[in-house]
Amino acid sequence: MTDPQILENPLRSGLRLGRTPEPCTMVIFGATGDLTSRKLVPALYNLARERRLPGGFSVVGFARREWDDDHFRQVLLDGVNTNSRSGPADQALWQTFAEGIFYHRSNFDDRAGYLSLVERLAAIDAQRGTSGNRVFYLATPPESYATIIHYLGEAGLNRSPNGGWTRIIIEKPFGRDLESARALNQQVLAVFDERQVYRIDHYLGKETVQNILVFRFANGIFEPLWNRSFVDHVQITVAESIGVEDRGGYYDSSGALRDMIQNHLMQLLTLTAMEPPVAYDADAVRDEKVKVLRAIRPIAPEEVARYTVRGQYAAGSVSGRPIGGYRSERGVAAGSQTETYIALKLFIESWRWAGVPFYLRSGKALPRRVSEIAIQFKTVPTMLFADTPMNDIEPNVLAIKIQPDEGITLKVGSKVPGQSQIRPVTMDFRYGTSFGVASPEAYERLLLDCMLGDGTLFTRRDEVEASWALITPILQGWAAGPPQLFPNYEAGTWGPAAADTFIAADGRAWRRL
Ligand code: BG6
Repeated sequence: MTDPQILENPLRSGLRLGRTPEPCTMVIFGATGDLTSRKLVPALYNLARERRLPGGFSVVGFARREWDDDHFRQVLLDGVNTNSRSGPADQALWQTFAEGIFYHRSNFDDRAGYLSLVERLAAIDAQRGTSGNRVFYLATPPESYATIIHYLGEAGLNRSPNGGWTRIIIEKPFGRDLESARALNQQVLAVFDERQVYRIDHYLGKETVQNILVFRFANGIFEPLWNRSFVDHVQITVAESIGVEDRGGYYDSSGALRDMIQNHLMQLLTLTAMEPPVAYDADAVRDEKVKVLRAIRPIAPEEVARYTVRGQYAAGSVSGRPIGGYRSERGVAAGSQTETYIALKLFIESWRWAGVPFYLRSGKALPRRVSEIAIQFKTVPTMLFADTPMNDIEPNVLAIKIQPDEGITLKVGSKVPGQSQIRPVTMDFRYGTSFGVASPEAYERLLLDCMLGDGTLFTRRDEVEASWALITPILQGWAAGPPQLFPNYEAGTWGPAAADTFIAADGRAWRRL
């Protein structure tokens, strides 16, 4: 059955159709920060533009700076004008949207600020009809999470008045190793129930990432091939062309393994490798993802040299633009041992995947911004075509292009006209050509899902801990080992030479992207 809204407005087809959340208020902690004006409010504004927000929807910014409602609104408007995917704000629409925006000044550890928030929210409920429904969004540095959660609980803000609902969205990083992730889970769950908690990973909000499951489970022809009998290996790449820019302080205590692999690449891996869930709902989907994580053979600290390669960029240039070396970035220690590139190999010990390596790589200051999942199939068992040496035939590769140039391509061998040669060609699906509309931003989908009470695209407690359980021994192994000879790749190249040797040792090569 076709949902009438698809016909009415194709722009909406990427979102859950036909559902509008109940009126609610979103309280953003750390609202004067970059995330709010760069991502959150532009996403909310675009939801408003597409009439996906409930009537009376309100935003309260909770932060330390001495701002007032008017100044906050102005900053957010500037943020929308610069960052909204639909261009500068429409005046009339902004006016209406901004009537529901308020600023609440308080320190995060000031009890009185939370008590006055109770009053303020009650007043907004009365004025705008938001019925006690709340989303708290933690967009602060992670050091403040525990404090905010504690005071929310103490002020009784973990439960809604008048039978409304309360939910909490927690930004990444969720912990910095298994122990701290567990401790944070305990702090959160001492105040909120798991069903109220939405741990965000913005990769799950990307259209192309959601399409992994649709592609796999809404088509009959791929799933029979999606296993160790047909797949030689899988490569997951998230390459960024930017350096750490102005985030050196945060990044230097994080590094690529924590910043990208533990969350974004693990999400891509679990969606690629999981079994079909029994239903498309939050529990069933997340159950299957957790099973994948639990089936991954952990890399023990003493094995890190065999299964991982690290890199850090030196000065260089990306597309003709000079980039300084990582160690010269603001906030980065002069002799920093933090990795800005990582490649690793994982095995999933399940009937479907036993023996199939999953190669993951991610880095900053690489030649291009490109993310993809490539399923490389096994080659043909015998060579039928005379005059064509076997090694001229390239294996079939299915590439799920996450960004940019979103789409899916299948590489197959084809005869060159008039010659007895075989050459690879691709069958292409491109979002732009097939649908002709811009995809919504990841945060649009995720904020809406949270307001609708749908946790499918958020990370569950056991999931985040299972992921850290795999990452932590690698961190320990690195810490115990000798210092690296960093920097070891030039900005604008595809990472350290050791990453090529690493995969070549298995008789394979990284895809040229
Ligand atoms: C963030 C990381 O989670 O993801 C950043 O902290 C990274 O370091 C970013 O640049 C990448 O996201 P996207 O959507 O641009 O691929």
